[in-house]
This record gives sequence, structure tokens and C-alpha cells, in this order.
Amino acid sequence: MTIKILAISGGLRAASSNTALLRAAQQLAPEGVEIEIYEGLRDLPYFDEDLEGDVPAAVTALRERVAAADGVLIASPEYNYSIPGGLKNLLDWLSRPYGESVLTDKSIAIMGASGSPFGTVRAQNHLRDVFHQVDAKVVSKPEVYVGANYTRFDEQGNLADETSRNLIAGLIAALVVQIQRNALIGASA
Ligand SMILES: Cc1cc2nc3c(=O)[nH]c(=O)nc-3n(C[C@H](O)[C@H](O)[C@H](O)COP(=O)(O)O)c2cc1C
Repeated sequence: MTIKILAISGGLRAASSNTALLRAAQQLAPEGVEIEIYEGLRDLPYFDEDLEGDVPAAVTALRERVAAADGVLIASPEYNYSIPGGLKNLLDWLSRPYGESVLTDKSIAIMGASGSPFGTVRAQNHLRDVFHQVDAKVVSKPEVYVGANYTRFDEQGNLADETSRNLIAGLIAALVVQIQRNALIGASA
């Protein structure tokens, strides 16, 4: 059976190094693991409780895709030591309705690329806090911090750094283990 992973980039720009990390993850995925990249981030309206009675179609589509996925893989930049607004907005939509979030019990893996040598470590910690609130199951290791991102890609925008590629392969493997563990827990509940 194919394991389906929905990949979400916190970077909107066409040349986003974080979206490029997700493309590398697609190449590195082992047989039986399918990674699809979500492309609707810019179509989501700002989260607004007044819209919750009649949820926008883009949000419903996103929730359905997350619900249908076995796991979620996030690659995000760090903006001002935290989560970029667009991605935080997406997560706020996914966190609702309160107590019925599609993220609850979902297997999640996080990685990120940034210009600084710290490679999104602060933003990833903030993401872990958000996933803690919704009781998602976040893979803890390996931690993938792609610092000095301007040195890690070739001219075509492909991830050329072998250490980062190995870490991403390890993160996908850990996510698959988390998904399988989750399935066993679900089956015995
Ligand atoms: C508004 C803004 C804030 C930023 N803040 C940080 C930061 O806190 N830490 C960091 O490492 N890089 C920071 N950067 C630089 C980003 O790491 C860099 O632009 C990165 O390439 C963005 O990710 P992307 O390639 O996926 O677009 C910031 C960039 C912008 C535009």
C-alpha cells in the first residue's frame, strides 16, 4: 500500500529554497512513498472566526487533503525568528474546528532552509509548539536545519548538499516509521 505524504512549503516565492527541499524529498522518497506538494498557500484567506460558519472552499479542500494524507511534511523558512505568516495562517485554519482538527494524531515531519547558519531552528521550535497544541505526532529526529541555504543548491535550484540530502532521506524514513506506529495504535484502539 502506498504511503501518501502531503508536503507544505512555508515559502511562497518561485525560487523558494524550502519548496526546493520538498522537491528533493520527492526524489529521495523510497518506493511505496508518494509525496505531493500542496500549492494552495496563497489562495487561503486570512483566518477569521466569522468565516467558520461557512468555511471557504480553499480551506475545505486543504483540510480534505490533510485528512486523506498519511502524513504531512513541512519545509519552512524562518521569518524574524518565527513561522512565516502564510504558513501560520494555514495552520490556524487546520487547527479548527476546536477539538476536531485534521492535524490531531496526524504524523508530521518538519524541516527548513534559511540564510543564517542556524537554518530555521527557532521557527521549527515554534512549529513544534503549534503541533503540540493540536496533539499532532511530530517526528523529533533527525532535525533538518539547512543553514546558509545560498550555498546548498546548484544553478537549477536542485539541492546539491549531500549532508542535507541524507538528513532529508532520514527524516522521510522516520516519518514513515511514525505513520506505521500510528496505524498500529489506531488498529488496536
Ligand atoms: C521577512 C523576512 C524575515 C527573515 N527572517 C529570518 C530569520 O529570522 N532567520 C533566518 O535565518 N533568515 C531570515 N530571513 C532570510 C530567509 O532565511 C531567506 O530569505 C530564505 O531564503 C527564505 O526562504 P525561501 O528560500 O524558502 O524563500 C528572513 C527573510 C525575510 C524576507
